[in-house]
Amino acid sequence: MNDNGIDGYRTYLARRDGEADLLNRRLSSREEFFAALEADSVRSAHRVDRQVFARNLRRRRPESGVDRQLLFLLATAKLNQAERFGVGLGETYGHNSGDDVPPERVYMELEEHYHTRLLAYVLDIFDLPFQVVAPPLVMRQFVKTAVFLPERMGFMFVGAAEMAGCIMFHQLRRIGVELFADEPDVAARIDRLYSEILTDEVGHVGYCAARCTPAERAIMRRLYPRIGRLFARQTFEISLLTDRQELNALLDRPFDVDELSAGLSNETFLAAHP
Ligand SMILES: [Fe+2]
Ligand SMILES: [Fe+2]
Repeated sequence: MNDNGIDGYRTYLARRDGEADLLNRRLSSREEFFAALEADSVRSAHRVDRQVFARNLRRRRPESGVDRQLLFLLATAKLNQAERFGVGLGETYGHNSGDDVPPERVYMELEEHYHTRLLAYVLDIFDLPFQVVAPPLVMRQFVKTAVFLPERMGFMFVGAAEMAGCIMFHQLRRIGVELFADEPDVAARIDRLYSEILTDEVGHVGYCAARCTPAERAIMRRLYPRIGRLFARQTFEISLLTDRQELNALLDRPFDVDELSAGLSNETFLAAHP
């Protein structure tokens, strides 16, 4: 990590992601990453009932009797839908495109597109299909607020959501690795896919923080635990997978980038601390 602010972040993005191609939604280095993954696919021996999965994906709360492994896969799929919904809206409204928009924004939008793919690849280990499902009403309203706020206010709001997202991905990465410890290659693949997302999200937090004034960063820090609790409630599987007191305590502690970055194989970059 270093602290060259937004200029440093731009350099980092070009180094990490390669060329950005908005039309084809491609980052050249990511394509290489996915090609390597596909050449070395991992399959779990764990059998997941597709119908039970699909049915629960459309439910607010899972049916009783759903085991922790399936809860993890449902949480993965549902977080994916909430992200996809937000990224799609921002893209549709051209929020990250244009001569007046700084170049890192195209990179960030494309990284978010890849998150959909990364999370879908977690499901693919279990032979579960990627499906498009609208997130629940409260999440949709939350995402719309984040997308349509005036830009000045948007950074602290989106920044707080990115911070909360880091905590959710960090937790799911840990839980997924634990749950599938009996299949080391599956656990390693889950770790790899989630690590890739977490690396990007740490960068997004730093970028939003760098675009905020100190007063706005203070609001960003205040909003973050509230948004974290909202995410956990709205993706109810996360509430079931985590210890409520532990999650609350984690969200109430200062945001610790070093802790989040520990164990990531990628270099992270924080343009400014939130
Ligand atoms: Fe993301
Ligand atoms: Fe993000």
